[in-house]
Amino acid sequence: MSYKNAELPIEERVADLLARMTLEEKADQLMQLPVGRDLNPNNIGTGAFRPTIGSMLNSRHGPKVHNAFQRAAIEESRLGIPVIFGQDIIHGCVTIYPHSLGQACSFRPARVRDCARHAARESVAMGYHWTFSPMIDVCRDPRWGRVVEGYGEDPYVNGCFGAAAVEGYQGKDLRAPDSIAACLKHFAGYGWSEGGRDYVYTDISMRTLWESILPPYRAGVKAGAATIMSAFNDITGTPAVANRYLLTEVLREMWGFDGMVGSDWNAVSQLAEQGLTADPAMQPRLCLEAGNDMDMTDQVYRNIPELVDSGTLDLAVVDEAVRRVLRLKFRLGLFENPYFDEAAGFETAFLRPDAKAAEERLAGETLVLLKNGYDNLPLDVSRIALVGPAADDPGCILGGWEGCGRLEDVVTIRAGLDERFDGVVIYARGCDFEEDDESGITEAVQAAGSADAVVLCLGECQHWTGENQSRTSIELPALQERLLDALKATGKPIVLVLVHGRPLGLHSIEPKVDTILSAWQPGTMGGYAIADVLRGKVNPSGRLAITFPRSTGHIPAYYGMRPYAHSGPKQGRYRNMETSSVFEFGHGLSFTTFIYGPLVLSAERIRKDQSLTVSVDITNSGKRGGAETVFWYLRDPEASITQPIRRLIHFEKIDLVPGETRTVSLSVDPVKHLSYPAHDGKPLLEPGLFVLEASRRCEAVFVLE
Ligand code: NOJ
Repeated sequence: MSYKNAELPIEERVADLLARMTLEEKADQLMQLPVGRDLNPNNIGTGAFRPTIGSMLNSRHGPKVHNAFQRAAIEESRLGIPVIFGQDIIHGCVTIYPHSLGQACSFRPARVRDCARHAARESVAMGYHWTFSPMIDVCRDPRWGRVVEGYGEDPYVNGCFGAAAVEGYQGKDLRAPDSIAACLKHFAGYGWSEGGRDYVYTDISMRTLWESILPPYRAGVKAGAATIMSAFNDITGTPAVANRYLLTEVLREMWGFDGMVGSDWNAVSQLAEQGLTADPAMQPRLCLEAGNDMDMTDQVYRNIPELVDSGTLDLAVVDEAVRRVLRLKFRLGLFENPYFDEAAGFETAFLRPDAKAAEERLAGETLVLLKNGYDNLPLDVSRIALVGPAADDPGCILGGWEGCGRLEDVVTIRAGLDERFDGVVIYARGCDFEEDDESGITEAVQAAGSADAVVLCLGECQHWTGENQSRTSIELPALQERLLDALKATGKPIVLVLVHGRPLGLHSIEPKVDTILSAWQPGTMGGYAIADVLRGKVNPSGRLAITFPRSTGHIPAYYGMRPYAHSGPKQGRYRNMETSSVFEFGHGLSFTTFIYGPLVLSAERIRKDQSLTVSVDITNSGKRGGAETVFWYLRDPEASITQPIRRLIHFEKIDLVPGETRTVSLSVDPVKHLSYPAHDGKPLLEPGLFVLEASRRCEAVFVLE
């Protein structure tokens, strides 16, 4: 039984165990099933569950029940292979952190890593070994409800935050008692769904695949992600779960990934709906041969023994998939430590002060000050009217995929302002998120009349984003705008706080308000984070990780578009509305100002084997300390495959006290920064002229010989 010997190398243990397994036991290891509603811990041996099951998901029953399942797996099965428990811990387990899109706007991956670490610790305490996170699907269509789950429109940014989340979840050692396995999802191209509708077809060229979709996955694999989830979508005629090019040629052969790939919910049997095959023999065969190891929920992998016996499926293919599942379990240390600690009390495991502090700190950095006309912020008034459907709504602060987060733990905007503004706030809801009841508007107007300023909280309710939550319109419902109009008529200064999970179409609202703060879905402590920015305790430093298209009709709008023919000021424009975006990627104001010096290059010409250093001095020229994000963009004005107008190659966020100047530098490596992927993914490095820009504030030109 050398597989039980923890002293031996993992590959030796895997080989030994695999050699002992029957075909039925192998098939069971490749299956993942939801925990039933029947709380009887013995149901593992009774119905759908055999104690030889590979994985369970979607249980909120906690460590005690999970341990009972585990005991059955270990004590009642021939080989005692532990079950791996997976769950969607997307932006926190019980302490809920800002949703991913907001996290990206912080441009502080280190804080995200820190929060993912807390999420991992809470997850283990709740009885999970594995999270289906991070989602690193680049998205440029905010109608898609899942836009909130990723890190925005830019591949590089998705890669940086995805890697930070992986490092946070997994820690330095997957076997540590506070580490869980991460899962990069949804591989690949799920964010490219036609019309922004969920689950639908995606038409993805090799150019788009290599340039915009795959780079974050490459970064996540490099960061050591233990698992990957194949996506639901059909990619240009081959559904992701059965896509051998992606799951084997790219992932394993080109990138050397040796972790495990699991399917998404019922994706294997949905090959029938997608029109590839309804044959329950072909479905597992195609997916396994493509490189999809585990089957989430559809149970078609049950047919594996029959397929192997009949010669339809090669045993070596099955063995390889099982090897990857076992490897994951050994890497997690499950054979040595299969059980969860049941003794930890709620208070010691969840919502710990340090976890809440990390959440509040991150939330504070995710807020993006979009507009601050007349310097309405910070608020320095003696009476505030707090109005709007988002003002006292815990759900919208938390956002969807809230894990085991509880509404009662959420600091709403009202609670945050009440505490941090010390009793100067009067509240009137005004109206709901939608529907036509205007009866509350009068009270809201009265509240505004008796105050010096209005904090108006509009936006989206908790489940307007998330899975299967696509919308045809990114504008706010008319009722919310009517509330704004009524308040504007009072003449009082209005600070608009938006709580939302997607970029909003602000073409009509933006001109009506002088001050707008985008709060995204800031998580458990969100109300405090918002209050502290409004009162100036925290200087906002969030920058948009995704562009706000002017209206739904402007989709897609993103900074990395390609230049186009007839690009004069009157060409390629919409005739009925201004074409430009209201707020672009990278936008975000501060209560202080930053001055950029000129860019300084270490050389004006380099060869392919040389690097170049570019630097810029940045000065905080205002009266408050603040943080500035330096966005390093590259422009490649002439290439044999045309390039986006600009491409982000690096970012760095720095803190500056008033009057302080810091030099920020980047070492430009030709292969890493100047090459671009050819249609087969291989890097193409072409000589010529390049332009470097720092935050689109200053630029310099150099030549690659
Ligand atoms: C379907 C979703 O697409 C995926 O993101 C999630 O992890 C699984 N369901 C499991 O809940």
